[in-house]
Amino acid sequence: NRLGILGAPLTVAQPNEGVDFGPGSIRYAGLFDRLNDLGLAYKDYGDVPVINKRTNGVDPKTNLRNLDHVASANEMIADYVYDLKKQGDVPLILGGDHSIAIGTLAGLSQFYSNLGVIWFDAHADLNRGETSPSGNIHGMSLGVSLGMGHERLTSIHGQEAKIKPEHTIIIGARSVDEGERQVIREQGIRVYTMHDIETHGITWVMNDALEYLNGKVDGVHLSLDVDGIDPNHTPGTGTPVVGGPSYREAHLAMSMLYNAGVLTSAEVVEVNPLLDEGNRTAEVAVDMIASLYGEKHV
Ligand code: ARG
Ligand code: MN
Ligand code: MN
Ligand code: MN
Repeated sequence: NRLGILGAPLTVAQPNEGVDFGPGSIRYAGLFDRLNDLGLAYKDYGDVPVINKRTNGVDPKTNLRNLDHVASANEMIADYVYDLKKQGDVPLILGGDHSIAIGTLAGLSQFYSNLGVIWFDAHADLNRGETSPSGNIHGMSLGVSLGMGHERLTSIHGQEAKIKPEHTIIIGARSVDEGERQVIREQGIRVYTMHDIETHGITWVMNDALEYLNGKVDGVHLSLDVDGIDPNHTPGTGTPVVGGPSYREAHLAMSMLYNAGVLTSAEVVEVNPLLDEGNRTAEVAVDMIASLYGEKHV
């Protein structure tokens, strides 16, 4: 099927300017040349016209930053993702901060009843206002999609949870807050930490993750936060965490997803060219996308 590419240049769910240039920086890093070389059909739907206003700061009552703008942007993102998918295209969403996963998963949820989610990230993004150390909604999007958090966010495209904890996998986690640990334990979310990757290797981790989802899900979505990769390779991101998987490990994880043939949608988030060295983080993002869609080096 044709790939449907959509930019979601939201930045106000975290404090740094520049992640709104993520979609453009990924396109300019050669995305279309690489897809052409793969002989892949695609359509670029352009960017969702989100409004990046920081007019309502962190509300002391809810501990949520810019809730109004984040909520309305994600409603729009959900609509656009829904329409793209309705066209029969395979969604590839370019962020934007990681809060856009709220919109992506809400838009996708109408097509799946048991969507598997692979959340490749240094963080768990399972906070709520009550547990968040920052009030930044990009650290809450996985929780919101599981039905936890502010009603303005969880009710986008319907009240029900968009995904289920038993279909949710986090890979690469190395910065998890106390409240998030509790959610992981209580909900039984599967997490492959850096420790697991080191002990067993990324091949084992990916095979185990795929086996865990096998037979239980009617689709698999990859949510790739570029801070999941070690910041030696992806310095252009707002919340880097040392000690992540290498370029090669992440690259192999992507090719294994391609080889498994299970992926039904993907998003790549948190590329911030204003924090980058040249445009190398977007270039790594493009390398990862190319592997995900079948690029081989010989
Ligand atoms: N856990 C931290 C917080 O809630 C950091 C979250 C970073 N999230 C991200 N998508 N980069 O503020
Ligand atoms: Mn992250
Ligand atoms: Mn994230
Ligand atoms: Mn490659």
